[in-house]
Amino acid sequence: MESKSLCYVFATLIFSYFVLKHILKFLSSGKVKLSLPPGSMGWPYIGETFQLYSQNPNTFFASKIKRYGSIFKTRILGCNCVMISSPEAAKLVLVTKSNLFKPTFPASKERMLGKQALFFHQGDYHAKLRKLVLRAFMPEAIKKIVPEIESVALSTLESWDGRSITTYQEMKTYTFNVAMLSILGEDEVLYREDLKRCYHILEKGYNSMPINLPGTLFHKSMKARKELAQILAKIISLRRQKKRDHSDLLGTFMNDTEGLTEEQIADNIIGVIFAARDTTASVLTWILKYLGENASVLQAVTEEQEGIMKFKEELGEEKVLNWSDTKKMPITTRVIQETLRVASILSFTFREAVEDVEFDVLVTHYAIAFRKMTRGNIPHKEVDVIK
Ligand code: HEM
Repeated sequence: MESKSLCYVFATLIFSYFVLKHILKFLSSGKVKLSLPPGSMGWPYIGETFQLYSQNPNTFFASKIKRYGSIFKTRILGCNCVMISSPEAAKLVLVTKSNLFKPTFPASKERMLGKQALFFHQGDYHAKLRKLVLRAFMPEAIKKIVPEIESVALSTLESWDGRSITTYQEMKTYTFNVAMLSILGEDEVLYREDLKRCYHILEKGYNSMPINLPGTLFHKSMKARKELAQILAKIISLRRQKKRDHSDLLGTFMNDTEGLTEEQIADNIIGVIFAARDTTASVLTWILKYLGENASVLQAVTEEQEGIMKFKEELGEEKVLNWSDTKKMPITTRVIQETLRVASILSFTFREAVEDVEFDVLVTHYAIAFRKMTRGNIPHKEVDVIK
């Protein structure tokens, strides 16, 4: 009996301690602390990774938004997240309170792309790499590869002859080939097949759980990533022996006066392929879809393109596209710009709250993943691209 009452006393003391602690905290903060947004964290560690990646991400978002509203919590790739999809919340994270958030990615992506890739950094290192990447894609650097890009486009079109294709997959192959050209220049030819094979294995693991055990997608990806870095090291050593200057991305990285390590170069090259390839392939796929749906615009673009070649023929010039030709495509340019405006390219991206942030709900050291506004939830106005 005595031991039972002792237990009651002890339990009451513990209960009182917690109640008192919360009352004191409440009084000292002077305001009621909001709670985390509604949602489900799914399985321990794995969370709701499979629900998100095994279907169209829009289906995942639509069902969550219907159930919990535009801000909800979840766990993706081992990362506790608050997902937001309202323009007001996105503006707060990206603009008005951007100082309270830093760029982040789930650990699996960081390990696959490499810790030294610019996406995972801020400050001087980030600014320096951003400048180098921009330099390699400025008109001065890409002007001279326009004929080669055209040749990649023509051989891609030829490879479609007589077969039905999955547009997005074909666009991914095309953008990979163009990316290789602008990143490695003529050296890509030497290792083209190996680069393609490794990258293909690597991308299969992008959205996998970071479980590095033989047989897992993540393990295979990490092996392919290692091989990619070895190929890049071979190209770097070849370039150092030949001592020739290159204006492609690898050349720009290698010429940096302060010097980047091989690891920094490899991580950023793999990172830029990751940033450039699927995004561009997606834009191209949307362009084809919109052109297919708008016969008059398709005709205007076709006439504009054919007109450029006809003009060359009349002048007796070689029928190869060059930089100045790309300046004579106002309708094509407007189609690209309008597609970028209305299409949904990135489903979502990540930020990490560096301290507690409150906006209707509490976001406490959670990674925030946002969904880019889709056509359905941004004010959308059709624009006539021909006029
Ligand atoms: C038209 C297709 C593209 C779209 C829609 C797109 C979209 C984006 C978006 C939304 C971000 C910001 C992500 C965030 O803040 O979390 C970003 C970052 C980035 N993109 Fe693109 N991108 C495209 C093409 C490219 C290409 C072709 C390259 C290659 C040069 C590239 C390289 C980068 C890099 C390096 C970053 C990181 C910038 C930084 O951390 O400061 N992107 N892109």
